[in-house]
This record gives sequence, structure tokens and C-alpha cells, in this order.
Amino acid sequence: MNFALEQIRRMRTYNPPIEQRAKFEGLRLDFNERLAPLPAKVIDAIRNFDPQRFMVYPSYGDLVVKIAKYAQVDADSLMITNGSDQGMELIFRTFVSTGDKVLIPSPSFAMFYQVAQVQGAEIIKSKYKSDGNFPFDEVMELLKQKPKLVIICNPNNPTGTLLSLEKIETILKTTSETLIYVDEAYFEFSRVTAADLIKKYQNLFITRTFSKAFGLAALRIGYLMSCRANIDEMLKVRGPYDINQIAKVAADASLKTLPELKQYCDEVMKESKPFTEEFLREKGVEFFPSGANFIYFNEPFAGFSAELEGNGILIRPQADGYARVTIGKLSQMQRFAEIFNQITS
Ligand SMILES: Cc1ncc(COP(=O)(O)O)c(C=O)c1O
Repeated sequence: MNFALEQIRRMRTYNPPIEQRAKFEGLRLDFNERLAPLPAKVIDAIRNFDPQRFMVYPSYGDLVVKIAKYAQVDADSLMITNGSDQGMELIFRTFVSTGDKVLIPSPSFAMFYQVAQVQGAEIIKSKYKSDGNFPFDEVMELLKQKPKLVIICNPNNPTGTLLSLEKIETILKTTSETLIYVDEAYFEFSRVTAADLIKKYQNLFITRTFSKAFGLAALRIGYLMSCRANIDEMLKVRGPYDINQIAKVAADASLKTLPELKQYCDEVMKESKPFTEEFLREKGVEFFPSGANFIYFNEPFAGFSAELEGNGILIRPQADGYARVTIGKLSQMQRFAEIFNQITS
């Protein structure tokens, strides 16, 4: 007897290759994480946390106000979430019903499909263009079908490509009924944000995270931005203690290390990424322009990712012979290039 809901029964479990990697001794260029040590202030804040506090339910003080200041939105337009995955889930649970159409330009991040399927939504996939660009004209056309929600993953995982703010606003202007959800998990790298538009468009939702540039992936903390009315509704759905206390302490401390954050993001975007792009160009490897800390490229031969792993570097193979490599510090990308050269010469 299978008691699960019909739409759950039809699903497959999302099983990212996570289990062995924490112990992996080489370079982890497979999950778009931060690849530099955490700032000392963040480590100290975590170390100074009194474990006796574990007995007490978490409370978040003025963290929302502090994040809102960082994100430059009003505090009543923001709520904290258990990773941006929970933000995504809250949007669906609060606003999407069984049978609603959800437009997901694809390929994109696996969790979008999971939460849409759990909700029993009808997924419409419009395909990213062969050069990695967002299928803007097709999305504009599909908006005529009045989907309940459109996802704009910006930059998109796995392609890394960005949709301009002008085009996001064009989409927002076209419809006031369809919810427009912009995932900005990689904002610190792209510096492109639709946050200013929250005041103007009631149907806009944005999620962000402390998992990537801030380096707190294991602690699970992110945030969700929208107009106050939407946030008030989603607060009814989120549990009052869904974010753990250490994550709160670490996020709070992280916001006091913004110069270090900028320094890391600048190294990734202004040194390591151009270095890696130049390297791939020289090797004649096709790749997409990226606004994030990863690059989507055509593998030089089948089984390339596995061979790289055998040589101490994890990357993430994708469909159709493509792979995604996380960009870290310059020295790490030099190592990537060295091993790449070794196995392709
Ligand atoms: C586009 C995108 N959104 C959201 C997430 C999930 O982030 P979090 O760790 O905040 O749940 C990821 C993680 O890979 C991602 O690539």
C-alpha cells in the first residue's frame, strides 16, 4: 500500500552526489560553494556560542532588520528562511495549487522541479537557448497562457547566464497576475538584483542565501523578499523556529565581514573566472558566459568528470556532455587547469 499523494508517487528522489564529498581530500568544485576559509569573526562567533543554549528555542532578534539593511529593502519586505530552498518552498506552499501552471526555463536548479511537483503543479519547461541565453521571447509568449508562476533563476544554475534587469522588468510589466520568482542565490557574485523592484511590483518574489559567497551552506540560512502583504502570508506558513540558532549567530557575524566578502567575490569574478575562461578558450572548449561563481562547459570527452575526480578534483557533470565547475581562488583554478591539461594532453 502506498499512502503518498498521487503527485509524490510520480516523483523520483533528488539525490545529489553529496555523501562522500565532505571527506574528499582534493578540490570540491562541484557544488558552487565558497572555496576560501570563513572570516575569523564568523568562526569566533560560532565558537563562542554556548552549547547550553541548545536547550532553548531559537530567537532571531533584529537579524531581519540587519539583513534588510544589507539587501537594501524595507524590513517588512523580508523574512529569514532555512536556506533559500525553504524560501522557494514557501512561495509554492502559500500561492501555488494543484494543477496550476508553473513555467521553469530549463535546464535549471533541481529543487524548482521538486517543489513544483510536490505542490502538484503542471510544469512548463521552456528551453534555454543554445548559447545559454534565457528564452525571453518564448517566456513572453507563454505568459499569455497566464501561468501561476514563472521562475527566473538569475544567474541560472547550471548555465551561469544572466537575464538583464530591464528584461525582468519587462516581464513584470506584462503581467500582474503571474507571480515572478527571481532566485538570486549567487547575487554576491553577479551583483545583479531585482530587489529595487519590490516596491513597484506586488507579484515579485526574490530568494537569496548565505550558502554560497558567505560560505554557510551547512548551517542552512537564507531569506525571502517580496512586498509586505506577501511576506505576511508566507510568515503564516513558515514555522517560528525553522532556522537554527547557530545559523542566526553565523549570519549575524557574516554581515560584519562585508569587506572580506567583497574581497573573495572580487577574486573569483575578476581574477579566477577570467583566468578559467581564458584557459577554456585556449583549449578550444565551448562554455557559456557566467554571472556567477561557476562555469558551464562542454566536456572535452565522455567520462571527463570521472577522470578529473580520479585526479583529485570534483566537478558536476550535467546533461548532453556538459559539466559545471565552481570557480574559487585563483590558485585553485590554476590547479584545475593543470589537471585539465594533464588529462587532455
Ligand atoms: C540557483 C540556486 N538556488 C538555490 C540554491 C539552494 O541554496 P540554499 O543552500 O540556500 O538552499 C542553490 C544551491 O545550489 C542554487 O544553485
